[in-house]
Amino acid sequence: MSQTPTLVEELQRLEKDALQEVERSDTPESLEEVRISFLGRKDGRISGILRRLGSLDPEERPRVGQTANQVKARLQSALDRRREQLEQGSGEAQGAQWDLTLPARRSWVGGRHPVTRVVDELVAIFGTLGFTRARGPEAETEWYNFEALNTPLDHPAADEQDTLYLKGGHLLRSHTSPVQVRVMENHQPPIRVLAPGMVYRRDSYDATHTPGFAQLEGLVVDEGITFVDLKATLAEFARLYWGPGTRVRFRPSFFPFTEPSAEVDVKRVVRDSEGELRESDWLEIMGAGMVDPAVLDAAGIDSERYTGFAFGMGPGRIGLLKYGIPDLRLYLDNDVRFLQQFTQP
Ligand code: DAH
Repeated sequence: MSQTPTLVEELQRLEKDALQEVERSDTPESLEEVRISFLGRKDGRISGILRRLGSLDPEERPRVGQTANQVKARLQSALDRRREQLEQGSGEAQGAQWDLTLPARRSWVGGRHPVTRVVDELVAIFGTLGFTRARGPEAETEWYNFEALNTPLDHPAADEQDTLYLKGGHLLRSHTSPVQVRVMENHQPPIRVLAPGMVYRRDSYDATHTPGFAQLEGLVVDEGITFVDLKATLAEFARLYWGPGTRVRFRPSFFPFTEPSAEVDVKRVVRDSEGELRESDWLEIMGAGMVDPAVLDAAGIDSERYTGFAFGMGPGRIGLLKYGIPDLRLYLDNDVRFLQQFTQP
């Protein structure tokens, strides 16, 4: 009965000593010595105390053993904490070379990529005209990317030279037009959607081409939609985006999935270097047309009852105009000096 408190007391005293020595250690080596002298299995002081357990009454042994385990655990965590401090401190020791007068580094503020900003603006403007956002996969099948869009696989657009094929019959979509088909498969008219997203082509990498770029697809399908709706919608969009003086021109063109098809150009009112308002040159901004009935049929829409129009534009190119960016590659370089210019709202 008299010995039990002694061993427990001894352990308590030992813990106090050990914790002091841990605090006093100022190198990893001296810390390791403290650890061995207290926790070492053979000659450690805790082991030494436990070896005397045999002299205790059997019913008192558990209490001593329990105390010993608690002391070991607390000591181990003190050792770990101190080791961490010493490791960090070795940086501080070299800190004599630190210049504390240097200005603090500014924290980074993220921002939307300029192309994302343009996409968001376009989506917002078309939103006021009743369009909602749709999405489709970037890894597409030949059916959606070409065949359902009235483009036979031996059409030049489907050529391996232009398109990036993946293993297993998929390809990276070469335009956002396949989203038209996916939307029509899943929704009956009236349909009014915008599908922004990345598209990919085997293309050169220069100021005006990059093998991956953003597109924005629009699709409207309903009863009685005509070319007048197409012209009015796109002219209204151009005025909302570039200002009321903007003029729009439709030139006949060809796309397999629209008939008739057009290239759409805009003439903007801009300020010249003298600050005078003047009209810009005509600039091509998108392809458009009436959805070919074969596309409606391929997507399960009754082409006797419904008509529609579609358009596709490049937000990256629109951003070049908007921000006066001289080279498409700047979008992809990931150079923060370029990107930081767009962090403001
Ligand atoms: N998909 C065409 C391209 O990538 C762009 C386009 C043209 C989309 C006319 C359309 C359209 O929806 O009607 O070149």
